[in-house]
Amino acid sequence: MSTCPFHPFSAEYLADPYPTFASVREETPAFYSDELDMWVVTRYRDASMVMSDTEQFSASNSQDPLLPFCPEAGKVLAEGFGYTPVMTNLDPPEHARIRRHNMTAFSTRRVANLEPVIREIATNLLDDMLAEDRFDWVAGLAYPLPINVIFELVGFPSSDADMVKGWGGDRLTIMFGHPDESEQLRVAQNMAALWQYCSEHVQRRKVDRADDFTSALLDIRDADHEAISETEITSVVMGLGIAGHETTTNLLANAMRLLAEHPDQWAEVCADPSLIPNAVEEALRFDSSVNAWRRKARTDIDLGEGAVIPEGARVLVLLGSSNRDAAEFDDPDRFDIHRSGARRHLSFGKGIHYCLGAPLARLEARLAFEELIRRAPDLRLDDQQLDYPPIISFRGPRQLWLTRNRQDTP
Ligand code: HEM
Repeated sequence: MSTCPFHPFSAEYLADPYPTFASVREETPAFYSDELDMWVVTRYRDASMVMSDTEQFSASNSQDPLLPFCPEAGKVLAEGFGYTPVMTNLDPPEHARIRRHNMTAFSTRRVANLEPVIREIATNLLDDMLAEDRFDWVAGLAYPLPINVIFELVGFPSSDADMVKGWGGDRLTIMFGHPDESEQLRVAQNMAALWQYCSEHVQRRKVDRADDFTSALLDIRDADHEAISETEITSVVMGLGIAGHETTTNLLANAMRLLAEHPDQWAEVCADPSLIPNAVEEALRFDSSVNAWRRKARTDIDLGEGAVIPEGARVLVLLGSSNRDAAEFDDPDRFDIHRSGARRHLSFGKGIHYCLGAPLARLEARLAFEELIRRAPDLRLDDQQLDYPPIISFRGPRQLWLTRNRQDTP
């Protein structure tokens, strides 16, 4: 592109990336971004292919830092961070081994069993939050609900939630942001602390099992030591400790914002809660909590219109742009909770790496909104300027202020 409009750390882009998505998608299927040193894929059909074609694209870079670490931070990580690639950044055939055992441990039964726990956590949070007439939905529910649920799943004590969440948030800054050297060092120290915390948790569970995901993975290892190593179990637990809540916090925040911005659709959902699941899918499509993901090209790939991604290139797949591609979705810039086929969005990825936690994220969102509409159908968006963290992949406002108009409540 002659003058590239893609500046993923600019204030305009962070506030609203969709005009940029529309412009790059219109112009080309893929372009090189100087700023990121990555090839950026813009359209649904190509994004779908890049995410699912494991012969032409590797997923090995999906957790890499965006910029190389400075030497001091690198040293801290070399000494204290024992993470090994598991699932999201592992290619076939090894990926299948780890994924299979994780599917067993993260079974449909385990997710379904979480339903009463999620409902209870959501209810308690809502009771506290709705005591006020003006409140921040992110601090009141979208942040604490997913982290408490993931802690229940992996077996971390809930009293450690804020500490662990802080370490995980730091890791996202390295993976998807551009911190300066002193921040890199602080992040590296926190990543080492997170690793240490997860290792100790796995060691504790080796001698003291519980009905949790970590214990289920250790049972698999006890039955067959070749199945999965202790380092892999620790890495999976650490990955879930991050993937399992940041993304869902953002889903809850984005969906709430969209519903509050469309009071007619919010009223429909309140009148008929069976509309919630499709409203959640539409929120995932319309403003995804993961709006870009990464791959690496194994060969030269010709996407047409002169866009050739060279072998070895790092690739950024714009999931958020693909979800607004008119070639795939009618009237894509309209938020419509009744949209048929909303679920075809790419927000959970595609192919062998399709998000393992999608059923849990969907369940959390459904239960949170079911409980919310029962208590507060009179919600309104408060006047505010939304603020989004400067990272290229995860998207959700840091705060979302809502008010109540109690005389509206029937
Ligand atoms: C709205 C919430 C979520 C979104 C938008 C999301 C999005 C994604 C995306 C885009 C991928 C990469 C897919 C690919 O490479 O093709 C992924 C993978 C993954 N997600 Fe999620 N995720 C969410 C929630 C969760 C939760 C709650 C968990 C766990 C409790 C989780 C665990 C994972 C795991 C383990 C993978 C790697 C799967 C593999 O490589 O086989 N995610 N997710």
